[in-house]
Amino acid sequence: KAMYYASVNGGKRIRPLLIKEASKIAKISNFDSFILAASTECIHSYSLIHDDLPSMDNDDFRRGKPSTHKKFNEALAILAGDALHDLAFTLISGNLRNKNPKSQIKLINFLSQCIGHRGLALGQSFDLEFENKKQSKNKILDMYLKKTGKLFEFSFCAPFILSNANKSKIKFAKEFGLLFGLIFQISDDVLDEEGTLKKIGKTPGKDKKKGKSTLISNLGKQNVIELCSRELKDFETKYSNFLSKNSLLIELLKFCLNRVN
Ligand code: IPE
Ligand code: IPE
Ligand code: MG
Ligand code: MG
Ligand code: MG
Repeated sequence: KAMYYASVNGGKRIRPLLIKEASKIAKISNFDSFILAASTECIHSYSLIHDDLPSMDNDDFRRGKPSTHKKFNEALAILAGDALHDLAFTLISGNLRNKNPKSQIKLINFLSQCIGHRGLALGQSFDLEFENKKQSKNKILDMYLKKTGKLFEFSFCAPFILSNANKSKIKFAKEFGLLFGLIFQISDDVLDEEGTLKKIGKTPGKDKKKGKSTLISNLGKQNVIELCSRELKDFETKYSNFLSKNSLLIELLKFCLNRVN
């Protein structure tokens, strides 16, 4: 019940949207695309359950409802997070119809790396370590790329890995996912400052209250938005060829920068 509460019930499903778009380009079947999306949402939901725990961000609301440890209890929330993490690997190792074991192993290995001690988990530990301490812009950027960027990188890249795409496509997919994740985390920070509980489904103003090191606290909102626009432009120039054939992708990045929830 706790696993269901934290994953099926609510959420914007942004990572699945990226997986769907990448699957079209990489020509992955709808079925396999769905399994990738489900695995990614399991990981994402696990990370949110744990992120909200009293020992981490101590947040009482998520997706407009009491967070999992509030609805159930702390022990069940930890276990539901663990089990969702495991379910992701059950799905990605046991439910894909793809018949290329080499690319499937590569994919599973990549997921474990994106979320592990050099990826999401490390980013989350930096986030906590940096509370109430002044950090450099580069350290905060690195923390964002890990805690949020890495799962977006996996999301956009997974269909390409599964279809055994060439190196240049994988490189593009990795950079697109990471940039999307960076912009996504920055807009999350803006929404934390400017949103309402009703709009964002979580308590606003928490970053300041917790003394989080964010790019906004470091550079100011205007400079951060300018940084995003610059990164976006550079990416557009670097990959103009690829992007002209897939114009929706740049629209997705712009949408992410201007999102309201
Ligand atoms: C919130 O992610 C956590 C961050 C990485 C900023 P989402 O905003 O995608 O959460 P849901 O799934 O829509 O609730
Ligand atoms: C969350 O960052 C990153 C992960 C869950 C991996 P935040 O702590 O800013 O996310 P919210 O604002 O609680 O959703
Ligand atoms: Mg957090
Ligand atoms: Mg949080
Ligand atoms: Mg946040």
